[in-house]
Amino acid sequence: MQTWIVANQKGGVGKTTTVVSMAASLAQRGQRVLMIDLDPHGSLTTYFSMDESGLQASVYNLFQDAELHAGSLISATRFGNLWLMPSAAALATLDRQLGAQLGKGTVLRQALVKVRDGFDYVLIDCPPTLGILMINALAAGDLLALPVQTEFLALKGLERMLVTLSMINKARVTPIPFMIVPTLFDRRTKASRDALSYLQEKHSAHLWELIIPVDTQFRDASKAGIPLPLLQPSARGALAYESLVDTLLDMTGLNPYQVSKESKAYE
Ligand SMILES: Nc1ncnc2c1ncn2[C@@H]1O[C@H](COP(=O)(O)OP(=O)(O)OP(=O)(O)O)[C@@H](O)[C@H]1O
Ligand SMILES: [Mg+2]
Repeated sequence: MQTWIVANQKGGVGKTTTVVSMAASLAQRGQRVLMIDLDPHGSLTTYFSMDESGLQASVYNLFQDAELHAGSLISATRFGNLWLMPSAAALATLDRQLGAQLGKGTVLRQALVKVRDGFDYVLIDCPPTLGILMINALAAGDLLALPVQTEFLALKGLERMLVTLSMINKARVTPIPFMIVPTLFDRRTKASRDALSYLQEKHSAHLWELIIPVDTQFRDASKAGIPLPLLQPSARGALAYESLVDTLLDMTGLNPYQVSKESKAYE
């Protein structure tokens, strides 16, 4: 099981869209995917119409009861190979409740060990703020996708996130590999082109070579509650996320297409 985190300390940069689209792309490839909604706003949970009914089990329960089996908090979505551990508004109270309690940064990592055999991939959607939830996600992750909206203000969010990352990496056995993903790119606007040039200049070592374009079909997909790669596989946005998944699989050495390409080279 591989755990991929999608995080940035900036709101509205396409984090939830990235989780939904990559999860669907992996599911389409026959992988069993668990999505975890760590954002108290619960956009990912809402996307799949699995909103809190008040008593519903959510990822919040993990932080209340360390003995709880994570499997009891997971629900199947209406799509094949896609499961969800929903969010709850109460997640917003965790930072105040837990404060600096030791050991609370690895609650999620420990919980995921118990469901390791049930899934091939776990994709975690983070809130846009640094706190106990983001710390838990980064401690549990094998890889970080860092969506950055291609506009000037969003670049500031990236710098903040990189500081957080270097702090968290000190507490990890190995630093978390990460890839910056330029999102909401609109080649017609100077703001988008300038932001991309800045990323290429300053962060080329960790920058994905492609972009996620602005695609209005994401809005239609979210309204329908269907991931865009499943609703409209040929949409520009869906194809871009398909390529992103290819790249991340290459990065982790798990891309079967890459393996077959390489083995061909030896024939
Ligand atoms: N590539 C795209 N093209 C067009 N619209 C997009 C794209 N990516 C995301 N959006 C839209 O932009 C809005 C914000 O995206 P999303 O919810 O994925 O961001 P987020 O980073 O998760 O936000 P938050 O920090 O509030 O959780 C949504 O309405 C989404 O449908
Ligand atoms: Mg979100």
